[in-house]
Amino acid sequence: MNIESKIFKNEEVLSFEYLPEFLPHRENQIKQLARNLMPASKGRKPQNTFIFGPSGIGKTAVVKFVFREFENYSGIKTVYINCWDFNTAQAILTETVLRLGFPVPRRGWAKDEILSRLIEVLGKSKKGLIICLDEVDQLIFKSQEVLYDLLRLNQYVKNPIGIVFVSNNPHIFANLEERIKSSLSIEEIEFKPYSLMEMKDILEERIKEGFFKVESGVGLIVANHAVKKGGDVRVGLECLLKAGRIAEEENANMLKVEHVKKVLKEVKEIKPEILKERVNEVEKEILKILGERESFTSGELYKIYSNKAENPITQRRFREFLKHLASIGLIKIREKKKGKGRTRIISSINF
Ligand SMILES: Nc1ncnc2c1ncn2[C@@H]1O[C@H](COP(=O)(O)OP(=O)(O)OP(=O)(O)O)[C@@H](O)[C@H]1O
Ligand SMILES: [Mg+2]
Repeated sequence: MNIESKIFKNEEVLSFEYLPEFLPHRENQIKQLARNLMPASKGRKPQNTFIFGPSGIGKTAVVKFVFREFENYSGIKTVYINCWDFNTAQAILTETVLRLGFPVPRRGWAKDEILSRLIEVLGKSKKGLIICLDEVDQLIFKSQEVLYDLLRLNQYVKNPIGIVFVSNNPHIFANLEERIKSSLSIEEIEFKPYSLMEMKDILEERIKEGFFKVESGVGLIVANHAVKKGGDVRVGLECLLKAGRIAEEENANMLKVEHVKKVLKEVKEIKPEILKERVNEVEKEILKILGERESFTSGELYKIYSNKAENPITQRRFREFLKHLASIGLIKIREKKKGKGRTRIISSINF
């Protein structure tokens, strides 16, 4: 960390996790979510909400923002959970109890034990609870049961519990079992991609906070790149960070368009990179093999994988992992007719 940087006023505001003081161009979504939670502050049942839209357009940021404000305003506890980190009923219920400030062992308890612990804990507090399940695809992909468990909590406790679901996929609930679907009763909030000018506003706010001096034109060129690369604000933030580093190296007196131009080529879509870090070891191995050639049949792929692996998983589980990788957009699966049957052709999106 360069403490005496002439370029960065506050580098941290360019990190993906940084939650700004306000979120331009999401005022309506913020209002709508806040309105849905509000009944909880009066002891009534909040409106379950489903937030969806493409990557990097403020879904997580809006939830965290509204949760922060809502907790301050109402004193009602909010629990934000990313389903990549917690994707079983036990894990989610345990995490919820812990975040409410009550001890419970991380492992070893059966689901029903944790469930009754949560009910007991909620019974003690006079207030309701709001839970966010972000990247909820990761949960539903594994099992729908946890949704059911969470949704029926309201039957056992007086305090109203609200759930906010977040996903890239608008159809994530389409194939749920009827008994789960009927207890969901969600209101949807769609997040649409930012226009070029909205992206520019958002990035210029960060520029103001993050840099001492910036040449005019930087905001627009960075915003344009972010929009071109799928509309993810993170692409813009990454450009700014990298360009800032170059400006520092060159000992420049401000961040200039020429610095930005030097990094544009190397800043590609960010979400696939984040996902590649999140997938499990077998999936990482699959991606590695897929990087070697344009495409493989699923049979070939399994053979190469099981020759390499010490304890290969079964072909059936292998297919599950392929399905998972396809569902998060890291691989493509095409079906091809072959005689009377079909072969599945697998390729990496990066190829
Ligand atoms: N309106 C906005 N104002 C300020 N910053 C924003 C805004 N929208 C997004 N960002 C920033 O862009 C980055 C990505 O936003 P966020 O994490 O909310 O995306 P997301 O929609 O949840 O994407 P994903 O589906 O990939 O999880 C974050 O650093 C966030 O702070
Ligand atoms: Mg998100």
